[in-house]
Amino acid sequence: MSSSGSFVNRGLPLLIGFLVVSAIYLYAFPQANVFYAGVVLLHAIAGVVASVLLLLWLIRSLFLRQGEPPVRIGMVFLCLGAIPGLALIYTGALRTEWTLVYIHIGVSFLGAGLIAAARLKWLSRHAVIRVAAVLAVLAVLAPVARYLREARWNRHGRIENPTLPPVSMDGEGDGPTGPFFPSSAQVYGGEKIPSKFFMESDSCKRCHEDIYNQWNSSAHHFSSFNNQWYRKSIEYMQDTIGTKPSKWCGGCHDPAVLYAGKMDTPIKQIVHTPEAQAGLGCMMCHSIADVKSTMGQGDFYTTS
Ligand code: HEC
Ligand code: HEC
Ligand code: HEC
Repeated sequence: MSSSGSFVNRGLPLLIGFLVVSAIYLYAFPQANVFYAGVVLLHAIAGVVASVLLLLWLIRSLFLRQGEPPVRIGMVFLCLGAIPGLALIYTGALRTEWTLVYIHIGVSFLGAGLIAAARLKWLSRHAVIRVAAVLAVLAVLAPVARYLREARWNRHGRIENPTLPPVSMDGEGDGPTGPFFPSSAQVYGGEKIPSKFFMESDSCKRCHEDIYNQWNSSAHHFSSFNNQWYRKSIEYMQDTIGTKPSKWCGGCHDPAVLYAGKMDTPIKQIVHTPEAQAGLGCMMCHSIADVKSTMGQGDFYTTS
């Protein structure tokens, strides 16, 4: 009992501290990167371990009534908060499960707050005052975290058009030396994107079957050289004035060809390759990171 007791006493505060800090990061700074995914994983693992320790503590505390009341109540709240937390590991934090996410956050923070209150002896001798102080901090922290979460992408999603369009075509996108010019489309770092990136719509089907099926028979799927009107238009155009101007069309119609730099080759030579037949796959639209203006010409940044 005593050895497991000291492990619970030493390990649990550390784990709770980590869970609190990682929770703040996960809620306030959502990002689509590996670091964020790593923190999600660590949060889940730490949560499972903490749940086991909390359970040990709960069983023990039924026998020995130890600790101050705020700590004991706090621990009970943490146990309650762990239940939706564990359920979320099973269901995943999908949109449909956000009620559960908020219950998990609310109850767990209340628990951690009560425990913190017990440790703030220097603040006041009275537990009530310490608890009130911690609750006040949480009441301020919550809207600040929500602001940080929402404000960044709201600001990012706001598109501001320039007051005037470019004086000449040379002002579009990367300019005359750009790999995709005269399309306004740009890729971060001026890099090319391998065709394959835009050609794996099938891989989305496993989970988004309805959307995939709609897309499969849509005009977006048939935007490229799998569309005979389009194919003929570009072939005629390239025969007449060369490949460069046709890249303007490619910015909207042929991501798997244009962004890989393959539109410098006359399309007649590669029209039967899979990339020329791919159309506007899922990753064309779902890799657009920034819309520069709403003035057309594919005026966006895409990223791989
Ligand atoms: C292993 C299953 C799986 C695969 C494969 C998958 N998705 Fe998803 N996708 C999900 C889940 C789960 C969600 C979240 C649904 C929710 O939050 O309710 C999601 C959400 C999305 C969203 C909405 C995101 C948002 O913030 O609203 C987009 C867009 C999306 N997926 C695109 C794709 C594309 C494009 C592919 C193929 C490259 C793909 N998905 C492949 C499971 C998958
Ligand atoms: C700014 C984006 C954009 C650019 C640039 C663009 N297109 Fe299109 N194109 C579209 C859209 C969107 C449609 C579908 C319009 C509709 O159905 O109402 C379309 C439709 C078409 C169609 C009809 C396809 C069909 O099956 O009905 C052809 C042909 C076509 N475009 C050729 C071209 C050519 C050739 C160029 C270059 C000279 C070009 N497009 C440049 C966006 C663009
Ligand atoms: C022409 C651009 C385009 C293409 C191609 C495209 N999407 Fe989307 N997709 C969008 C836009 C725009 C939204 C957001 C719609 C909204 O918020 O109402 C969206 C939303 C979604 C969502 C979230 C749906 C939801 O209910 O919130 C999923 C999942 C998704 N797309 C998957 C796919 C998959 C899978 C493919 C390929 C089979 C695909 N998309 C192809 C533009 C596109």
